[in-house]
Amino acid sequence: MKMKSRRNFLKLTALGTAAVITNPIIASTQQEVELTPIKSSTKPIVISTWNHGMEANEASWKILSKGGTALDAVEAGVRITESDPNNTSVGLGGLPDRDGIVTLDACIMDENNQCGAVAFLQDIENPISVARKVMEETQHVMLVGEGARQFAFEKGFKKTNLLTKKSKEQWEIWKEKSKYQPIINSENHDTIGLLAIDEKGNLSGACTTSGMAYKIHGRVGDSPIIGAGLFVDNEVGAACATGVGEAVIRIAGSAIVVELMRNGMTPNEACKEAVSRIIKKHKDLTNLQVGFIALNKNGESGAYSVFNGFNYAIRTKSKNKMIDSKYYRDR
Ligand code: GLY
Repeated sequence: MKMKSRRNFLKLTALGTAAVITNPIIASTQQEVELTPIKSSTKPIVISTWNHGMEANEASWKILSKGGTALDAVEAGVRITESDPNNTSVGLGGLPDRDGIVTLDACIMDENNQCGAVAFLQDIENPISVARKVMEETQHVMLVGEGARQFAFEKGFKKTNLLTKKSKEQWEIWKEKSKYQPIINSENHDTIGLLAIDEKGNLSGACTTSGMAYKIHGRVGDSPIIGAGLFVDNEVGAACATGVGEAVIRIAGSAIVVELMRNGMTPNEACKEAVSRIIKKHKDLTNLQVGFIALNKNGESGAYSVFNGFNYAIRTKSKNKMIDSKYYRDR
């Protein structure tokens, strides 16, 4: 008889299982479902959103391939994107709000459900590292605005002007019409969300963005919100989101994807169901691009988006490659 190990079995509460819905006899009990053990060839693994994920994955891989932790890997990966001045949707060089001010949102979560976040943060190039400090060096989960900025300075982060010549020029062109409108798949990037499993089989995730271009000053999207832009449950898997943050927040997107995987869905199926909830809750889908990526405990990944054009990067021992997400509708 096959031995039960904690790693291979997942306890599901009565309210949380598909089996409960079809089998009332077990409705009042806890049930255990078997998870296929992760293949040694599948871990480590890292997946991340959009084309910029390829470079971020490589930075994560340097850590994972040497036996480093998923937490270190996810932070190192997205820092690359944050520090890229040519990327206009994350960190340095991110497009500003309508007042010309770059404000950043980020969060990080590890295998112990520890998490940290910063929102509406100004003047700091690597918000993900500030989010990690919030997680590891405070009793809190989230710091915002001026408080987050002061905290970052206290922790030794240096002041950086995030508005580059390129992003300032784009903002000045936008100001001529000042029309707020989300841009679908802007230059094939948006938020970077990155999920990893390390050699030990532990999961972590990171998510970071400059948010919607030309947003109202003070707007915060889904990316720094644990459960919306990112969620990790080391027993089940992890998910993160990209696209119009308001739509993701309305359905607690990433937490839902993880719960759907807990209930037996594959990463692809879970991402698809989360997208279909967004579609159901919004009468007008114009410009409403949202994409999810997910990674389960077994190292299986998946993605789904409202419109075509979303893709994600996957790094394993044998490859680093882009995969086109399945989607609901052509633009
Ligand atoms: N998903 C990024 C944002 O809405 O800010």
